[in-house]
Amino acid sequence: MLLLFLFLYSLHTVSSTQKKEIEELLDVAQTIEYFGYPVEKHYVTTDDGYTSEVQRIPYGRDARTINGCNEKRPVVFFMHGLFASAHEFVMNLPSQSPAFVFADAGFDVWLGNVRGTEYGLNHTTLSPDDAKFWNFTYYEYSHFDLRQQIDYALEVTQHKSLFYVGHSQGTAVMFARLAEADCTWQSKIRIFFALGPTAGFLKPLLPFSLLEDDLVQTLIQLVLDGRFGIIPISIPKSLSSFLADFCTSEVLSHVCAGVFELSDGMERLAQLNTSRVSIFLSHFPSTTSTLNLLHWVQVFKYHELRRLDLGARRNLIAYGQTEAPRLDIGRITAQTVLYFSHDDRITDEVDVKDVLIKNMGPGLIEYYDLDHFSHFDFAIGLRANDEVYKPIIYRIYQEIAEKRC
Ligand SMILES: *[C@@H]1O[C@H](CO)[C@@H](O)[C@H](O)[C@H]1NC(C)=O
Ligand SMILES: *[C@@H]1O[C@H](CO)[C@@H](O)[C@H](O)[C@H]1NC(C)=O
Ligand SMILES: *[C@@H]1O[C@H](CO)[C@@H](O)[C@H](O)[C@H]1NC(C)=O
Repeated sequence: MLLLFLFLYSLHTVSSTQKKEIEELLDVAQTIEYFGYPVEKHYVTTDDGYTSEVQRIPYGRDARTINGCNEKRPVVFFMHGLFASAHEFVMNLPSQSPAFVFADAGFDVWLGNVRGTEYGLNHTTLSPDDAKFWNFTYYEYSHFDLRQQIDYALEVTQHKSLFYVGHSQGTAVMFARLAEADCTWQSKIRIFFALGPTAGFLKPLLPFSLLEDDLVQTLIQLVLDGRFGIIPISIPKSLSSFLADFCTSEVLSHVCAGVFELSDGMERLAQLNTSRVSIFLSHFPSTTSTLNLLHWVQVFKYHELRRLDLGARRNLIAYGQTEAPRLDIGRITAQTVLYFSHDDRITDEVDVKDVLIKNMGPGLIEYYDLDHFSHFDFAIGLRANDEVYKPIIYRIYQEIAEKRC
């Protein structure tokens, strides 16, 4: 390990004269501007005090509109995955990145960000240095950030409903939200497109599965008591910027792509633009809480989405029962379309078919099992535009033509 590091470091010294790609230094709004698109930054403060930046691309480069929607463009709201931020939707060139592709197709594009990412470090009373700031999991993303950012986008645009595209954890937060929401809130989501959907797993996923249930429960108690996990989980910026620098070099970018790939299947090499690895690494991974990771470990234990299991005593106080309540995806009535791949090592077709599809109710309307998509390809793969984004856009056009704008 040390040797590998020294090796990387010596290569780094050689390659450090390399100039940085400008996109490595830009945040989401600056990237949107850099590619010549209009951008707005909005700040949404939740009922529990967290403020996140939400980016909006109100229209595309040639300001086109969709037939029958001349008054106002339909809204498409995107939500990112675990360890990511809205940046994952603007990582590639405009003709390949979903946020730009949808804006150019005539939509009003909104990009959500959850608390704890670089766009969600602001709280009315807490500082990110406080343990209490990091006392959240994907349930809070779902119940507060997602719900309130969507309500906000609908209010600003004066729409009654919107189309939603989630990736990975960005699907889980919507599954959790819809499982809890009443019909009125569910009707705000015209179609929920779930890319690499994660709502339960059947197979173990390393390294999560190595943790014993008792250990996980002990760790959760320590976090709730504020004695552990008070610092956020992230790769130190110095290390990721070192890796980004290192990967800028022409030759090394292939090595980096391979490393980037290890956990997630070699299929993706065909889809990853290796010249952009340094840009990907400058904006990924983002931060999350220790408690959220522990909650994700529990998704493996229960094979389904539930509220955080706080232990029998605390469950009784928080939920009025000793078990953590299920988030029942069978209750979902909002139209849902799934895009997944049997080559996705994180959530494969078995998870999707035997957990998600089996347990979903009337909401599920269509699903597509794609060839050779890794988990990240749904956001940054080079074939995603043709095989995922364009089909979604045509599906929405069809919905609009058949019903209303
Ligand atoms: C934090 O959010 C508040 C609104 O809740 C806002 O007034 C303030 O400017 C924000 N601070 C930063 C650093 O974004
Ligand atoms: C975290 O929140 C839970 C309730 O959801 C509470 O019981 C616990 O005391 C909180 N812990 C910290 C450190 O704020
Ligand atoms: C990969 O990224 C580079 C650098 O941004 C760009 O010039 C090139 O066109 C991209 N390749 C493909 C196949 O999109």
